[in-house]
Amino acid sequence: MRLRSPITRPLDVEVFAVGATDAQLCWRGLGRGAVTVEHDGAVVAKAPDAVLGTATVDDLRPGSSHGLTVRPDEGPPRHIRVDTLDPPPGAELGRFATLSDLHLGATSFGLLGLVKESSPVATHPHRCAQAAVAEAVDWGAERLYLKGDLTHKSRPEDWKMAGHFLDALPLPHHLILGNHDVQYTNQRPPADAMAEIGHARERIHVVDHPGLRVILVDFSKDTHPRGIIGAEADLVLDAATVDTPVLLATHFHFHRSVVPWFWPLGIGYRLGHRFLDRLRDVNPRVVVTTGHTHRNRAYSYAGVRITEVGSPKDYPGVWAGYAIYEGGLVQTVRRVAHPDALAWTDRTRRAVAGVWGLWSPGTLAQRSLAHHWD
Ligand SMILES: [Fe+2]
Ligand SMILES: [Fe+2]
Repeated sequence: MRLRSPITRPLDVEVFAVGATDAQLCWRGLGRGAVTVEHDGAVVAKAPDAVLGTATVDDLRPGSSHGLTVRPDEGPPRHIRVDTLDPPPGAELGRFATLSDLHLGATSFGLLGLVKESSPVATHPHRCAQAAVAEAVDWGAERLYLKGDLTHKSRPEDWKMAGHFLDALPLPHHLILGNHDVQYTNQRPPADAMAEIGHARERIHVVDHPGLRVILVDFSKDTHPRGIIGAEADLVLDAATVDTPVLLATHFHFHRSVVPWFWPLGIGYRLGHRFLDRLRDVNPRVVVTTGHTHRNRAYSYAGVRITEVGSPKDYPGVWAGYAIYEGGLVQTVRRVAHPDALAWTDRTRRAVAGVWGLWSPGTLAQRSLAHHWD
């Protein structure tokens, strides 16, 4: 019997994302030619490439199980089941998106940088981030939160690219920094670099959407590669002391063990959990989302739902959309679907001897979830 590693095995068809009424399907090695997706006997989506592609299906019944047929031009059809999320109670009040870990200026990926950039014209972080924004806007995002690691090494050329990217954003946006923006001591102070591209460095952004307050907080410290919660804690706790629910968005993940067992380092266990305890005490209706790990995860700590969302530029290559409901919040993490971005991010799954392709995606339930406030 011939065994194939999960890295080289075709992906076939995967339900990568679900919302209350939509789903994103992804495939690799499905056959030849184009692909159609059928639901209840009708064609509901088409895609040009059966070798590697995605399709989005909309207008599905919420909280229900749906049988879809994915049919390549050549090759057998695949029958898959999509379970849409059970939305929180009440009306949908608005949508926004987050992006983190853009790493503008990077030209390779992996521990030794073995997955290299193929285009010298527009580098992959820029192409992937631009595609992610376009797809988030198409999904319905009205505002964008950038959760840090905008640049790769904080070099002048990285910030110049960041300036071009920010200037071209088609929707209101808010930005905090991550370790890659602040840790390189041979570069200018990050506040100066930001000022040059017309942005002030803010420690905290507080934005009130209908039904939700978003708090975007910067726990990065100049020259440090990990997050340290300092005076920002009181700013966050003050802002979170409201009657409305809160989404706290930040760069660094919270360690889940006293001794961290994977790289990169985030916010230390005791410091982070003391902060989360205080946050929950001032507002129990809070969800926290982070970046930095470039992976997708969801878990709870003492009643606080916490998610980690990956990067648009490395496998699986994602952005996150949030739909606000009167009674809760839906997170849906989608792959960046533009063929050029998808071709790059799919290559990067082979990084770290192929382990990256297993480590980073998380499960569907960790990427797409409905959180009910009560
Ligand atoms: Fe990063
Ligand atoms: Fe980071």
